[in-house]
Amino acid sequence: MEVETRKLSQIIDLNKIKVVNRPIAKAHGLPNECYTNKDYLFFERKKIFENKWVVIGVGSSIPNIGDAKPFDLLGIPLIILRDKNNNIRVYHNVCSHRGYKILQEECKLKNVIRCPYHSWSYDMNGKLVATPHIGGMNKHSCSNFNKSGSSLKEVKSYVWLDLIFINLNNNEIEFEKYIKPLSDRWAKFWPEKDRDLMVYSNDYGYFNLNAKCNWKFAIENYCESYHLPWVHPGLNSYSKLDDHYHIQGLPNRFAGQGTLVYNPRFKSKLNFPCFPSWPKDKENIAEYVALFPNVMLGIHKDHFYAYWLEPVSNEYTKEHMEIYYVGNEAANSKKFKSLRRQNFELWKGVQSEDLNIIEGMQEGRNSPSYNGGNFSPKMDNPTHHFHKWVASNLMK
Ligand code: FES
Ligand SMILES: [Fe+2]
Repeated sequence: MEVETRKLSQIIDLNKIKVVNRPIAKAHGLPNECYTNKDYLFFERKKIFENKWVVIGVGSSIPNIGDAKPFDLLGIPLIILRDKNNNIRVYHNVCSHRGYKILQEECKLKNVIRCPYHSWSYDMNGKLVATPHIGGMNKHSCSNFNKSGSSLKEVKSYVWLDLIFINLNNNEIEFEKYIKPLSDRWAKFWPEKDRDLMVYSNDYGYFNLNAKCNWKFAIENYCESYHLPWVHPGLNSYSKLDDHYHIQGLPNRFAGQGTLVYNPRFKSKLNFPCFPSWPKDKENIAEYVALFPNVMLGIHKDHFYAYWLEPVSNEYTKEHMEIYYVGNEAANSKKFKSLRRQNFELWKGVQSEDLNIIEGMQEGRNSPSYNGGNFSPKMDNPTHHFHKWVASNLMK
């Protein structure tokens, strides 16, 4: 047995993870330790957050050249920046000199990222370009020090639908291949050219919720529509449980649900413009997919959102909602402002309803009598897919 799996077995009985992969009627969900044990989080960071394609932000939050921000992925310090060629780059946020965490807060870089400790500076391509007094007073170079060996370490990244994905260990398949099954699924609603019409809303485009629970609860709750009648009476008034279908990604890297009757009632004579290729006979379809591990996507004929998770500890998660419309007028003009506000409030309301639920699940997991739970063989399939995904990655 691999060393890490053996270590994992010291905090969780591995049989409890293996039963997750049984057929749904005989399976249990992930055991309590996966939500309540602080040491377990180390394995999850290694096996999931370092090994997989993970979302760490959106390009719209650093819209201009030189915009840079720090981000900590479960304690791993990173820098996200927009370089001089308008490309988004991600670096490890640690100075090659003596290891200071270089970027402490969001900023606008002029030319370089300067480490505050001894002022070593890196250009936006990560190259070390200045090392003041490195060879003694007023000697800014040193014959036996080669700058080229001390660049910032870049992290493999890919921007898709404005979402910044990273694969920290550079060991996952190429992102284009990784996303193809989902991208192909949505090509019928949303061919590539239409996706480029998405514009981030600068006024009602973002909210954040702080969840006092493990990040996985947000995903497993998002995957299913079973809870709709009781948790979301507003949504359920026009999109009932019956109108939903399951979505299962193959290979298993996303899961979720769709509705046949997306039809919110806003107080306005206007309607948002729609994606031009969205089929007329599928106007009321909307799909809600969790792309594992940490982003929940929603596509509708007239807007898109990405709700991504920033896990902070085993029992605390920041949830970030980013909303996009079709074209700049819908996303940012005064004309559509009231509609945008109503749509924003709708989603904030729905996600807040879910927040109460997922926090309650965290509390429930303190019960030693709970064995990971028994799924509904009909209603919980997408959630089971997610549990299986986590379980199989833990055992790899
Ligand atoms: S640690 Fe960054 S310049 Fe010394
Ligand atoms: Fe929900």
